[in-house]
Amino acid sequence: MRIIESLEEMHAEAADIAARRAECGFVPTMGALHEGHLSLMERAVAENDVTVASVFVNPTQFMPGEDFDNYPRTWEEDLDAAEQAGVDIIFHPTAEQMYPPRAQTSVLVHTLTQGLCGMSRGQGHFRGVTTVVAKLFNLVRPTRAYFGQKDAQQALVIQRMVIDLNFNIEIIVCPIVREEDGLALSSRNRNIPPEYRDRALALREALVRGRNLIRDGQYDAFQLTNVMQEMVLQDPDIELDYLDIVSPETLEEVERVDDLVLIAGAMKIGGVRLIDNILVGPDGPWSD
Ligand code: PAF
Repeated sequence: MRIIESLEEMHAEAADIAARRAECGFVPTMGALHEGHLSLMERAVAENDVTVASVFVNPTQFMPGEDFDNYPRTWEEDLDAAEQAGVDIIFHPTAEQMYPPRAQTSVLVHTLTQGLCGMSRGQGHFRGVTTVVAKLFNLVRPTRAYFGQKDAQQALVIQRMVIDLNFNIEIIVCPIVREEDGLALSSRNRNIPPEYRDRALALREALVRGRNLIRDGQYDAFQLTNVMQEMVLQDPDIELDYLDIVSPETLEEVERVDDLVLIAGAMKIGGVRLIDNILVGPDGPWSD
């Protein structure tokens, strides 16, 4: 596995891949790799001639007061894991290279970023994500790029950006990978203090309860949301950012579950912010 640390080298490698007419799969990450990332990498390896994964903790997507300094960084372990997954190239630029002095251009997907995490973290978070992903796409020039459904809003925002800015890249969204007890895998899980770990499941349990109520014929979004929110808020140590039922295409809140909906939530426990979601409609699916 080759490690590329300069933008010039990445440009040259991307040009070489294109000249060979090889298909390039790309998995952008912020490191602290877990099985969720590895599932994206393995799929990219299976579907492409060359797989590039980036490891870059992008400062511009962390809002003031967020956990940029405490974000887990596990570089040596990441290299081993990516190599095991069959990745060919790790792209590992520095913030100084990615954001040269006097940079003043950014990418914002306007409407899809207003609700959910855009409301609780601010649209600036998504501005940081789309700006860095657009820059990474220009550097790596992939055929396909792989994102996780856990960050459902991020995946939708990137799909919109790719259409709006005419990137010739196929976006592939892969299923959420969970711990045995159901907790969605996230790099931030490493930061959950052990005494809070069991209670970190509250969001997942509320989402499953919402799905069960829909299976039992409860379609009123207001009532469903109330039940789920109350479940989470039973724990005084949990700060609930949001728990909403929205259209999976527009992310606008729905009044009734007449079709497939995205039930998405974010909460903080033990100083760690966790997100999770479920896609469900009146006809299921009833498990994931
Ligand atoms: O999902 C992430 O890890 C990040 O938001 C991404 C897509 C790598 C951009 O920094």
